[in-house]
Amino acid sequence: MTVRIVLGAQFGDEAKGKIADFLAGTARIVVRSGGGPNTGHTVVLPEGPVVLHQLACGVLRHGVTAISGPGMVLQPFKLEDELRALDERGLHRGEVVLSDRAHVILPAHELEDVWEDELRSQSDPAAALGTTKSGIGPAYADRYARWGIRLTDLSRPGALRERLGLLYATKSHLPGLPPLEEVVSRLAEVGGRLAPMIRPTEPILWDALARGESILLEGAQSALLDIDFGTYPYVTSSHPTSAGALVGSGIPPTELDEVIGVAKAYSTRVGAGPYPTEDTGERGEFLRRVGGERGATTGRARRCGWLDLVLLRYVARLNGLTSLAITKVDVLGGLDEIPVCVSYRMPDGTIVRDAPPTRADDLARAEPVYENLPGWPELHERAKERLRREGGAALPSALVRFLDFITQATDVPVRYVGYGAHRDETVDLGPTAPRARRSPLAAWSG
Ligand code: IMP
Repeated sequence: MTVRIVLGAQFGDEAKGKIADFLAGTARIVVRSGGGPNTGHTVVLPEGPVVLHQLACGVLRHGVTAISGPGMVLQPFKLEDELRALDERGLHRGEVVLSDRAHVILPAHELEDVWEDELRSQSDPAAALGTTKSGIGPAYADRYARWGIRLTDLSRPGALRERLGLLYATKSHLPGLPPLEEVVSRLAEVGGRLAPMIRPTEPILWDALARGESILLEGAQSALLDIDFGTYPYVTSSHPTSAGALVGSGIPPTELDEVIGVAKAYSTRVGAGPYPTEDTGERGEFLRRVGGERGATTGRARRCGWLDLVLLRYVARLNGLTSLAITKVDVLGGLDEIPVCVSYRMPDGTIVRDAPPTRADDLARAEPVYENLPGWPELHERAKERLRREGGAALPSALVRFLDFITQATDVPVRYVGYGAHRDETVDLGPTAPRARRSPLAAWSG
């Protein structure tokens, strides 16, 4: 039995949907514990690609329970659409359970998300966060203000009307707010349709722990978008860290076995915010084109750049990573040299290796110091076939050196290597040695 967390170790979109799906093959339960429809986890099945937004990837496997957990904010109408689309394709295979404690994203939250980002950009165009406009920030804000609506409230129209009245009292500034009565009746209706799936999810997890079953916590968004440890204010409103995954599911920390961080062999970011290794030139364009770097939720072109080991080291420590999954190595195949950022030179000349500056404006001024590592050949179909057959033994030697370099820099072994979009295009290098002692911090900027 194992309890594993798989989480994004960069700014999102690291192909963690694919790695989560790979790991779900040995899990009985998969749990999403934070975020909501801002997520787009792509899994490429033999039947074609599927993008999951609010459902855990266990839904794609027979005999697996897919929990949308207490820490999430769910948009019930979009959730119904997602389920319907899976049903129509015959891909709804696992059992779906929705935590009764998860909060509801209301039409008011979606309006407010747009209104807030416009407000930010009125004072300064660079201040807009470029959110996914799915109502995430406002829904979490109301959750913490303690007038949020939870899935459990949908089954009690009287209490729902009362709570919604309280929440509506704070929203009169929003243009186009739908009438309260209309929202109450639509929510009660959708609540009725989803009711068979809504229940307490903690006992399901605790029973599974007692029976020794494997549980996978599927992170959404990524550690550098964490509300506290990310590049604030250019972050999401949840905790996409290992600690956040436990809080958002109800699994005690003492049960945790493994934390797998997923990082691309390069990097991308959608939305605004500092990004030291962004490459706005031709090579960035190459990464966007070859990597197919477009947002799975919003369709926005992703900003592209190189692997940043300063940020990855920070994420490794913050989350207690026990192993890394490095994805999309095929995208870099055929390049002579691959730049990897090993430290930052700050405007005052200091060199930072171990931690990004706390302030977003300071991070934006960090100048990346690169080391160029030798590239590996393109991974054509024959090379991929060998990887499928022989696993790690078929990895090109320059790629093995690249992976070793990451391990040296982060003190975290690379266990999984993703070399294509398909479900089976992942090499598992096998269980990793017990975690070595972390090397001491070289420098800490604040
Ligand atoms: P929000 O989560 O919609 O509030 O967006 C806040 C920031 O997080 C924006 O820069 C988004 O582009 C980014 N973001 C949110 N969810 C994801 C994701 O799943 N992948 C990548 N970026 C995301």
